[in-house]
Amino acid sequence: MVRFSDLPSGVSIATDVTCREIIHNPTAALFFRLKDWEDYPYTSLYSTLVKIFHQDKLLSPQEIPIYRSAVQGDRIIGVELKFVWQDGISKTAIWSSSPLRDETGVIIGAIATFEEVTGLVIKTQELDAHQALLQKMVDERTMKLRQEFEKRQSIEREIARLEKLNVIGQLAAGLAHEVRNPMTTIRGFLQLFQSKNDLHSYNSYFSLMIEELDRANSIIHEFLTLSKNKTNVFKLLSLNKLITGIFPLIQADALSQGKKSVFEAGNITDLEIDSNEIIQLILNLARNGLEAMPKEGCLTIKTYMDEEYVVLGVKDEGTGIKPEHVLKLGTPFFTTKETGTGLGIPICYDIAERHNAVIDVETGQGGTVFKVKFSRPKVSVDNSVNKGAATL
Ligand SMILES: Nc1ncnc2c1ncn2[C@@H]1O[C@H](COP(=O)(O)OP(=O)(O)OP(=O)(O)O)[C@@H](O)[C@H]1O
Ligand SMILES: [Mg+2]
Repeated sequence: MVRFSDLPSGVSIATDVTCREIIHNPTAALFFRLKDWEDYPYTSLYSTLVKIFHQDKLLSPQEIPIYRSAVQGDRIIGVELKFVWQDGISKTAIWSSSPLRDETGVIIGAIATFEEVTGLVIKTQELDAHQALLQKMVDERTMKLRQEFEKRQSIEREIARLEKLNVIGQLAAGLAHEVRNPMTTIRGFLQLFQSKNDLHSYNSYFSLMIEELDRANSIIHEFLTLSKNKTNVFKLLSLNKLITGIFPLIQADALSQGKKSVFEAGNITDLEIDSNEIIQLILNLARNGLEAMPKEGCLTIKTYMDEEYVVLGVKDEGTGIKPEHVLKLGTPFFTTKETGTGLGIPICYDIAERHNAVIDVETGQGGTVFKVKFSRPKVSVDNSVNKGAATL
C-alpha cells in the first residue's frame, strides 16, 4: 500500500469546501518550505507567504486550482504555476486538482497534486538565454561580414576607377607632350599669316582656326588635370571667401539660363586647400546642378561644419540621377549629355581625393546634393595665423 506521506509527487488536500485548512504530504511541505507537513490555514499559505503566478499573471486566492476545485468543483489538469516567496525564492510546478466528493456526490474538499519543474524551467531559461546570445553573435558577425563585403566592393570600385584615371593620366601626359608642341607651332604660323597684309581676306578664318586650336588645348588641359603626378599648392584658406570670390560667375551662369543661385556661408574653420582645384570642383558641381534644373530652379551652395567634417554642399532642384547612373558617377567619360565629356565628376573626385575629402551624393526626384566632406583639421588653428593665411 502506498502511503500519502510516501508519494514522490506533491499532494495537498483541502479538508473542507472553503479550503480553510489544507494537509500537505512531505513533498508538498518541502515545496512550500513548511516545517511541519500537516494542517496549514489556506489563507495564510496562499496570500501572505507566497505569491502565485500563472503565465506571469498574479493569481488571487480564489483563482488557485485547489480552491477552484473545492468551491466550484473544477477539474484542473497540468497548469504551470510559479510560486514566489517574499525572500525572492521562486519555484515552478505543474499542478492538477479535483474536487473530493462524498458517496452522494456532494463536494467535501479538494485534492491537488503537482510535480516540481523549477530546475527544468531554469534550464530552459538558460538555454533560451544561450540561444539569444548565440543569435546575437551570429547577427553581429553577419552584419560585420556584410559591412566588410560592402566596404570591399566600394574599395574595388574605387580601385577600378583609380586605375582608369591612372591610364587616362598617363594618356593625357603623353597626349599633351605629343600634340601640344605641334599645335603651338601651327598656332604660331597662323598668327604670323594673320599679320600678313596679302592674306588679310582670310583673317576671320585664321581667327577661327586659332580659337579652335585654343579649344583643343583646353580639352588637353582638362585631361592633364586627371594626371596623378599633379603638384598641388595647398594653403590654409577660407572656403567661404573662395566661394564668395567665384560666386558672381555662377550667378551669371544661372541668370543666363533663367535660374537662381544662392550661397549660404556657414561658420567653418579654414582648410588646407589648393584654391585653383577647389574652384574647379565647385564650378564643375555648380555647372552640373544648373544643367540638371529646369528654368526657375534654384542652385544652393552651402558650407557648414559638423563634429567630423567641414562640408561643402551643392544642391540643385533638378530631376535627380537615376540609380543605375549613380554607381557610374566618377567613371571617366560617363555622360548622359549630348555634348558632355563626362570628365567633370571624375575631376571632382580626383580633386577631393587629393584633399583627403570624400564626396557623398544624395539624389531623388526633388534634386541632387553633392556633399564634399573635408576632414576637420586636427589641431585647432591659431586665429592670427588663420587671418594672415586667408588671402582669398
Ligand atoms: N547635379 C546633377 N543632376 C543630375 N545628373 C547629374 C548631376 N551631376 C552629374 N550628373 C550626371 O552625371 C553625368 C556625369 O557628369 P560629369 O560632370 O562628369 O559629365 P557631364 O556633365 O556629362 O560632362 P562635362 O564633362 O561637360 O561636365 C552627367 O552626364 C549627368 O548624367
Ligand atoms: Mg559636368
